[in-house]
Amino acid sequence: MSNARRIWLTGASSGIGAALAEQLLASGARLVLSARRAEPLHALAARYPQQVLVLPGDLGDAEQVRAIGEQIAQQWGALDGAILNAGTCEYIEAAHFEAAMVERVLRANLLSASYCIEAALPLLRVGHQPHLVAVASSVTYLPLPRAEAYGASKAGLRYLLQALRIDLAAEGIDVTLVSPGFVDTPLTARNDFAMPMRWSAAKAAAHITKRLDKRPYEIAFPGPFIAILKLLASLPVGLQLALGKRMARTENSKDA
Ligand SMILES: NC(=O)c1ccc[n+]([C@@H]2O[C@H](COP(=O)([O-])OP(=O)(O)OC[C@H]3O[C@@H](n4cnc5c(N)ncnc54)[C@H](OP(=O)(O)O)[C@@H]3O)[C@@H](O)[C@H]2O)c1
Repeated sequence: MSNARRIWLTGASSGIGAALAEQLLASGARLVLSARRAEPLHALAARYPQQVLVLPGDLGDAEQVRAIGEQIAQQWGALDGAILNAGTCEYIEAAHFEAAMVERVLRANLLSASYCIEAALPLLRVGHQPHLVAVASSVTYLPLPRAEAYGASKAGLRYLLQALRIDLAAEGIDVTLVSPGFVDTPLTARNDFAMPMRWSAAKAAAHITKRLDKRPYEIAFPGPFIAILKLLASLPVGLQLALGKRMARTENSKDA
């Protein structure tokens, strides 16, 4: 167990993060688990007492993330990996555009990740074969209706990680982006639209963990869904707009 990889996994209280936690713990990894709800994290710690450090908090709050980083430094002294998975989604109604919602989503998805990166980097620098991973989204391939805030946050995360990959290369810190399509989780259970090619959280987590060791630049899935998004993104903008309009909701179509 002493050679087990030490990984900080955020958003481990439900969905993809909880499934990742299960699979990484079963493989012997040691995990720092963070999310706002502590109970699901303590439940994992009770099952894997030697492997889990529970450090809950609101990752959209820079001070709380700093405190978590200090706790990791005190208790473990280093990290070999960080998997920044915590995030949320809210859909915009263009008729009632709300900048505060954009701010909320950017805080939950992009700012939280940058606070975590600030806390994790000094620990990764003294870790073994360090690996920084962030869960973005396949939404970054193609602008989709109502996804303005979510897409902006994940596109920002994509750029942040891709640029960091270049800047951290000389230090030997590998960077991987994860770009899921639709995955069955409490987050997507709220969606009232069709979610093609949806995977279970366990299947998504297995797909991710199987590939993490090879440290690819990106883990995007399901393959056919990603291929369709990339194909649509390669169309002329006018054609993309025409197709997008068929998916968009208007005041009239909302109740239909
Ligand atoms: N499901 C999909 O189809 C899909 C597709 C593409 C990308 N993703 C991305 O995958 C990641 C996981 O999503 P999911 O579908 O598994 O959703 P989920 O079941 O709602 O899980 C989200 C996790 O993030 C945590 N979290 C959210 N805001 C937080 C905050 N401010 N501070 C600390 N923790 C926070 C939640 O914990 P607490 O509520 O306990 O804080 C929870 O553990 C997200 O980044 C999401 O954008 C999901």
